[in-house]
Amino acid sequence: MVRSIAIASGKGGVGKTSLAVNCAVKLTVDGRNVALLDADFGMANSHILLNQKIENSVNDILEKGTSIQKVIHETPTGLKLIPGGSGVLELLNLDSQKRWEIIRSLDALKNDLDILVVDTPAGASDASIEFSAACDAVVVVLVPEPTSFMDAYSFIKALYMEKKFETVSIVVNLAKNEKAAKKSYESFKKIVTKFLNVDMKFVGWLPESKAIAGSIVARKPAVLQKSLEPILQKNFTEITNNLAKIETVKSSGVKFFNN
Ligand SMILES: Nc1ncnc2c1ncn2[C@@H]1O[C@H](COP(=O)(O)OP(=O)(O)OP(=O)(O)O)[C@@H](O)[C@H]1O
Ligand SMILES: [Mg+2]
Repeated sequence: MVRSIAIASGKGGVGKTSLAVNCAVKLTVDGRNVALLDADFGMANSHILLNQKIENSVNDILEKGTSIQKVIHETPTGLKLIPGGSGVLELLNLDSQKRWEIIRSLDALKNDLDILVVDTPAGASDASIEFSAACDAVVVVLVPEPTSFMDAYSFIKALYMEKKFETVSIVVNLAKNEKAAKKSYESFKKIVTKFLNVDMKFVGWLPESKAIAGSIVARKPAVLQKSLEPILQKNFTEITNNLAKIETVKSSGVKFFNN
């Protein structure tokens, strides 16, 4: 069974794409069959972090009926990228029928994949809620600041109210150290569980890192850089190990691979 994992946040610019790309690459080099769906449609940028020139995107599935196999862009590590299209205005306002078509188009990959990572757009829009809820598990990226907490809470609330999604996993990004990361997680968990019947799980944390910030300039995802700091090696290993065994969450609505 393919396990699908959404990377979401509420607030923008907190490191969703960096996390999605690095985890997808690491899970691939560790031996799994992985695809990364860039669901930040119209503003997709995963291919930039992967330093790939792409030809087709999900827009070709919708507009021309192009098969998913032709849209998949195989990257040098073997990670399969499903590009979300950049600068394509039509993709910015997908209706639910189009979102359904995209989700169903991935059914053809059912026997080729172990893990699907979905990089979602910021906010609690219909698109980010629907693509997240379509996954077996949702990872919310949190940074230790009030605006991130507020937006992550609104996102989790919408996911719970609209889709009955009752368990959410958390990665704390830009944390000072493990203790601070866990403290942020615990205070956020307290807020969420006070008001919502939602279970929370800590998946891991990342420090502020030059290797991550500089990976676009270096044209290489951080996890592929040879002299990666030990703390990043350790933390990405912890995060991807947890992702590989993440449990499926029941929810209502359309699901990837009809799981
Ligand atoms: N741990 C980190 N250390 C240093 N820089 C980071 C870290 N995580 C992310 N960044 C930087 O923060 C910026 C935003 O990251 P990223 O694009 O991954 O966020 P995002 O949540 O996907 O944003 P958007 O909501 O626009 O899609 C990038 O320049 C990225 O390099
Ligand atoms: Mg992004």
